[in-house]
Amino acid sequence: MDKKIILSGIQATGKLTLGNYLGAIDNWVKMQEEYDCYYMIANLHSLTVRNDPEELKNNTLKILAIYIAAGLDPNKNTIFIQSQIKEHAELGWILDCYTYMGELSRMTQFKDKSAKHADNINAGLFTYPVLMAADILLYQADLVPVGEDQRQHLEITRDIAERFNKVYGKTFVIPDAYVRKESARIMGLQDPESKMSKSATNLNDVIFLEDEPEVILKKFKKAVTDSENKVKFDPENKPGVSNLMQIYSSITSKTMPEIESEFNGKGYGDFKMTVANSVIDKLKPIQEKYKEILNNKEYLEEIYTKGAENARKMASKTLEDVKQKIGIL
Ligand code: TYM
Repeated sequence: MDKKIILSGIQATGKLTLGNYLGAIDNWVKMQEEYDCYYMIANLHSLTVRNDPEELKNNTLKILAIYIAAGLDPNKNTIFIQSQIKEHAELGWILDCYTYMGELSRMTQFKDKSAKHADNINAGLFTYPVLMAADILLYQADLVPVGEDQRQHLEITRDIAERFNKVYGKTFVIPDAYVRKESARIMGLQDPESKMSKSATNLNDVIFLEDEPEVILKKFKKAVTDSENKVKFDPENKPGVSNLMQIYSSITSKTMPEIESEFNGKGYGDFKMTVANSVIDKLKPIQEKYKEILNNKEYLEEIYTKGAENARKMASKTLEDVKQKIGIL
């Protein structure tokens, strides 16, 4: 039987965080044996905010280097850069014409981002989920491993695909979101009520994958907890402690009851140190490999060139089918 198809991606804007790693990349690594995987760097999505052109290029390669350093095998997966497959932009436009303004205006990410960038609410920010739908549908993906914040974008992707299939007959596979419970939503260390985000203004709120061990330790020591001094999973009343437990659980695969008993009778000081060290130990080999790979531009080019060749085969087949069905010569 054919393997199921997976597609996912990360925007090429800013530095990657522990949220991106635990919510996305780490799960992808676990899926690479069982599925036929397409992992891309969404550099066209990055254009919805203003970037320095050199920085955008560098970020694209940095993310590729992180993918490989984290354990994605370029021989087992198709790893590519979104902009190198022209079919994404083309199908994106076609699907724009099958998507309603009303559905796009309900997207919470659009509302959040337009509040944050009130001076640059561009049309790309609005139609962003349609390009994401094109990314997914071009590869006939069955599953899309993402964090909780992307679930709504998966729902609109399914709606667009179902709408298209209904008019033109089966064209797209209807994809499911794959959201891993423990790492679905890693929260900020200073503000555990909000998602850990690349664009945080308080740098102590976020662990970047490039942070040195001392920095990681310092940030965990400063993490907001509560005054109860009891390690217990209760996201509503103890969001800070529960978030640290989620991080620890995602890394060690220990369950919440196991973690609670491990720290029974111990204070938050011990707990924070243990969580910090688990993160440091997990990231250390990735950071070392990352530095090595990033210096090898030829190797990176080889990977994305091969990835693009492979991705293009599938993408062009789907787009050709779509164009025939809708009457585009
Ligand atoms: P992006 O670049 O914002 O985030 C990449 C992935 O990381 C996950 N993530 C988190 N998971 C848990 N906790 C967090 N604090 C956290 N922060 C980020 C995100 O859920 C995501 O899985 N639109 C997408 C990129 C994209 C894409 C696609 C994804 C473009 N095309 C097609 C899947 C399929 C985005 O901006 O993710």
